[in-house]
Amino acid sequence: MKHIVNTQAEYNAAYQASLDDPEKFWRDFAEKEFTWHKKWDNVLNYTMSPEAGKLGVKWFEGAKLNITENCIDRHLEKRGEQTAIIFEANNPNEKPLHITYRELAKNVNKTANMLKANGAKKGDRICLYMPMTPELAYAVLACARIGAVHSVVFAGFSAKSLSDRIMDAKCNIVITADGGYRGSKITPLKDITDEALQSCDCVQKVIVLNRTNSKIPMVYGRDVWWQDEFAKASDVCPAEVMDAEDMLFILYTSGSTGKPKGMVHTCGGYMVYANYSFRNVFQYQEGDIYWCTADIGWITGHSYIVYGPLSAGATTVMFEGVPSYPDMGRFWEVVQKHKVNIFYTAPTAIRSLATCDMSLVTKHDLSSLKTLGTVGEPINLEAWEWYDEHIGKKNCPIVDTWWQTETGGIMISSLAGVTKDIPTYATLPLPGIQPCLMDENGVELPDGAQEGRLCIKHPWPSMARTIYGDHQRYADTYFSTFSGKYFTGDGAKRDAEGNYRITGRVDDIVIVSGHNLGTAEIENVINEHPNVAESAVVGYPHDVKGNSIYAYVTMKTQDGLTQDSEQVEKEIKNLVAKTLGPICKPEKIQFTSELPKTRSGKIMRRILRKVAADEFENLGDISTLLNPECVEEVVRGACSRG
Ligand code: WTA
Repeated sequence: MKHIVNTQAEYNAAYQASLDDPEKFWRDFAEKEFTWHKKWDNVLNYTMSPEAGKLGVKWFEGAKLNITENCIDRHLEKRGEQTAIIFEANNPNEKPLHITYRELAKNVNKTANMLKANGAKKGDRICLYMPMTPELAYAVLACARIGAVHSVVFAGFSAKSLSDRIMDAKCNIVITADGGYRGSKITPLKDITDEALQSCDCVQKVIVLNRTNSKIPMVYGRDVWWQDEFAKASDVCPAEVMDAEDMLFILYTSGSTGKPKGMVHTCGGYMVYANYSFRNVFQYQEGDIYWCTADIGWITGHSYIVYGPLSAGATTVMFEGVPSYPDMGRFWEVVQKHKVNIFYTAPTAIRSLATCDMSLVTKHDLSSLKTLGTVGEPINLEAWEWYDEHIGKKNCPIVDTWWQTETGGIMISSLAGVTKDIPTYATLPLPGIQPCLMDENGVELPDGAQEGRLCIKHPWPSMARTIYGDHQRYADTYFSTFSGKYFTGDGAKRDAEGNYRITGRVDDIVIVSGHNLGTAEIENVINEHPNVAESAVVGYPHDVKGNSIYAYVTMKTQDGLTQDSEQVEKEIKNLVAKTLGPICKPEKIQFTSELPKTRSGKIMRRILRKVAADEFENLGDISTLLNPECVEEVVRGACSRG
């Protein structure tokens, strides 16, 4: 049986083998494909109990390894001179960098020694708040090299989001840059970091990369320049020997309470699955140029820019900029320039590029492309067809990859050119993954065509092990809705052949342009406005962003309304943008004297979601509400605001 499959028959055989004996399946793959200092005592040890005290999953317990030896050192003999990373800068006129595996090794070691010289030790949490330059990849790998835990925070987040994340993980070092190029703008990363650190007393050192030559103040004794420290550091740094279950990184994702969840991933299982899923899904072949357009601030960048491709000895493109700069043809220009073979992006990007003048596409030579992929949200048929026709020229398989920050790697997807892709379907689980659908009463739906809530029945190597500092919340969020199963928070349909189509979140998370936003977090900020009594935030369908944010707001006035809605609307939008970042800003705000509530006082979001989506009919039974009369007002308000 082959683990990296190349035909449908091999897929079937691997899937069956993974069901028959999951431990053997993963043991054989792990044994064959990686460098270990010591093999495990136990392949898998787990209880997926809803009780936090019992819940725990361990893969390859007792094994010793360092993931960077698997991503770098072991490749040096055979592919030392091969390009590991192609760096394409924000400015198309800046010369791209081709960083070989040998150069990557040196740069990661220097970065690792720089971290040590600045006080970093095994187990420390280090926050990376950086632009998409090669130094971010070096920093990620350098942390892994010395056994420090990286927590990458997307460089579009606000000071408050950054400080929350730094404090939650108690980071002692932050790596940032003076500024980050994004299209025609510069994000003032150091200023934002300084603001964030006013409320963090755990941070001792800030390492600042000079990227934009911006004038910034340096705090004496705390701040050092990357370039100075890097120049001093030796390029030899032995890898720290880690336990398979030691923490590799924390990555924050939105939760349905206001507080983001620090998902914890560990060294061994994550490495095994990132490599396995990368090779199977994209069918990467020797010499291919692979480009994932995500940011390393998201899980997609962790698994499919850095760890998956590098562990497979691939050439991975890192792009600093945005799809719209200098014009909306930038992605296609980069594909042509670097002769990209495998291209992986988000539906929201496809939708916005599909609305542009077609000459921006047709003037570029896209003939190098052989595989396309999408991730982050359901892809609608129109966008899928445009991608297939205009980018793939009807000649490239499209892998629609369903997965999550929590799952660490792709779970359900077609395998490029191996298993069939079906528009708008993620299709089949990878061998080793056991999805199922549950009904609302917690009963597993029988095989065949069904619709329900998507769960995973059996552990897989890259599943998040806990929420940093809050194992109880991990148990409550993922294992208690359907006892003994991992609940994804997504709804899905399955056809008679077992293909899955993800229908979207069934919880209080809204995906806007591929970013997960927790509605509670946004409500908390809106409620901080001095004149707001309460608010309810929901998502509504948006042509380009997939979803957008709709806020219902009740004021502290007698009638709950405001005389100056334009001004208050502006204030609320600014407050949210400033506190959480511009992506969280509500697109529409509707003032209403009351919010529809159940008798127990819970806001009826189901109704608000429908109204926001302009579905005014069939609002369902409202007679059990505490205040059914307000529904009419909400509907009227929505109609009149347009
Ligand atoms: C959604 C991103 C439909 C889903 C890797 C999931 C998708 C959430 C797809 C996780 C897809 C991701 N089709 N929906 N191919 N991929 N999603 O943690 O709702 O940023 O639960 O991880 O994105 O988002 P996250």
